[in-house]
Amino acid sequence: MWVDGLRKANSMRILIASSEAVPFAKTGGLADVAAALPQAISRMGHEVWLALPYYRANQPKITKANYPIHQTGVEFDIEMGEKTVTGELYWSEIPNTNVTVLLIDQPEYFNRPGLYQENGHDYADNCERFAFFSRAVIEVCKKLILRPHIVHANDWQTALIPALLQTEFAYHPQFLRTRSVYTIHNLAYQGQFWHWDMELTGLDWKYFNWRQMEAYGQLNLMKTGIVFADAVTTVSPTYAKEIQTPSFGCGLEEVLATHHDKLSGILNGVDTHIWSPSVDTHIEENYDAKTVKEGKAVNKAALQEQLGLPQKPDTPLIGMISRLAVQKGLDIIAPILEMVQRDAQFLFLGTGESQYEDHLRYLAQKYPEQIAAYIGFDEGLAHLIEAGSDLFLMPSAYEPCGLNQMYSMLYGTPPIVHETGGLADSVVDTTEETLKEGKGTGFSFKYYNTESLLQTINRALDLYEDKPAWDKLVQNCMKGDWSWSRSAKEYINIYQRLTHSPREAIPVSI
Ligand code: ADP
Ligand code: GLC
Repeated sequence: MWVDGLRKANSMRILIASSEAVPFAKTGGLADVAAALPQAISRMGHEVWLALPYYRANQPKITKANYPIHQTGVEFDIEMGEKTVTGELYWSEIPNTNVTVLLIDQPEYFNRPGLYQENGHDYADNCERFAFFSRAVIEVCKKLILRPHIVHANDWQTALIPALLQTEFAYHPQFLRTRSVYTIHNLAYQGQFWHWDMELTGLDWKYFNWRQMEAYGQLNLMKTGIVFADAVTTVSPTYAKEIQTPSFGCGLEEVLATHHDKLSGILNGVDTHIWSPSVDTHIEENYDAKTVKEGKAVNKAALQEQLGLPQKPDTPLIGMISRLAVQKGLDIIAPILEMVQRDAQFLFLGTGESQYEDHLRYLAQKYPEQIAAYIGFDEGLAHLIEAGSDLFLMPSAYEPCGLNQMYSMLYGTPPIVHETGGLADSVVDTTEETLKEGKGTGFSFKYYNTESLLQTINRALDLYEDKPAWDKLVQNCMKGDWSWSRSAKEYINIYQRLTHSPREAIPVSI
């Protein structure tokens, strides 16, 4: 009883806001993280809500039986510039968890084919859509009389929330004890809009200055989140350092350096209920470290068949799953595909910039025996690629954290990575020594160029031919612990520290 009482006393109310989370909507790693972190925190005894836009157009992907969506009847009005926009609250749960999902419904904003863009073009009213969503999160708290200890916002889409809590709602009785955390998942996407969109935030123009919401003449929501949050995190310790330098800071390096006292890097984890070869429901045959050889062989054959590659069990198969964006190293990969002079197959699953989509299609047509490309988004195929490939390709130019390298290690598929951000923090390069010590888990290179990548691929293919060494490498990979509990504890420490300290002083405006 006493222990229970103590647990309750220490338990916090945490509201996490995100623009995507599985299984409701996904374009990339943010969706995996925004679903897994709330679950890990809730398992530690805290009360957690997850706020998402209600993307009705994505609903066909959602099986109603798994997670029914309920109407609440709660409506709210928000002033957006000169108009009043009405929203409605729906609710659901992350299946089989205690995490309540608050779905913000506004069909004109969110009932669209894409989350942020269509046919490669961002929606012109993205600032309006996500300013509305950010305000709606606060309105919903008011309506439900939620008094969160922590509101945790993610990326530019929800970056306005920390600013609202520090300004307009700073003295609202419900939020007096609320502290905000802002996580940067990718600094390259900043939510930059022309200055007149300041009107849509509903905040006073006095905040539109170089110390707060303005950057290079524009409204910058990423900067807004960094400046106003009580704590700022990013998704790996190395990226936290990198973004304070001009090469990785995307123009915000000085803002980050100014606020470095409240900045830290916490490596993401893996939701092993979804991403583990022993329980994965998408793959052909489940396996674990003991049965990896047989399991991989079955999955590899299925993958080769599905993608139309010749079924050669002994030919190394190198897989890649990616947004097709320059971030992911496509500029150094493309020339290599015509240069690898060895018996190897390459397989790509991705969608994104049309130049890369077209080039991969062209290569797959030109080399049908060696290269396959599936241009599209396919969750099931992504799992099969992790299970059926021998090596995973992820030579990102920069990578805040990266999830696929961790997934691939858990599936016994050593990753080939550029030593940057979360890739540097999670993959240990394989040398004779690191292999023997049980530490080597993949292949990494320092200098971002085609030659280094080619050398590294060749190094990996050489080791593939040394079967005992390869088996050892696969075992090293599969014993890694990437569970969320480690990272969730670090977030909890930050939340707890904040709830016991006074609010960050409101930055001085000019
Ligand atoms: P990022 O968020 O930068 O795209 P991450 O490695 O953190 O990179 O996460 C990417 C997530 O999106 C992974 O879960 C990956 O499997 C998934 N993903 C990316 N592209 C596709 C695709 N075309 N089809 C299915 N899943 C994809
Ligand atoms: C971003 C980053 C990726 C990270 C993901 C989840 O999309 O590009 O590196 O893993 O967010 O944090």
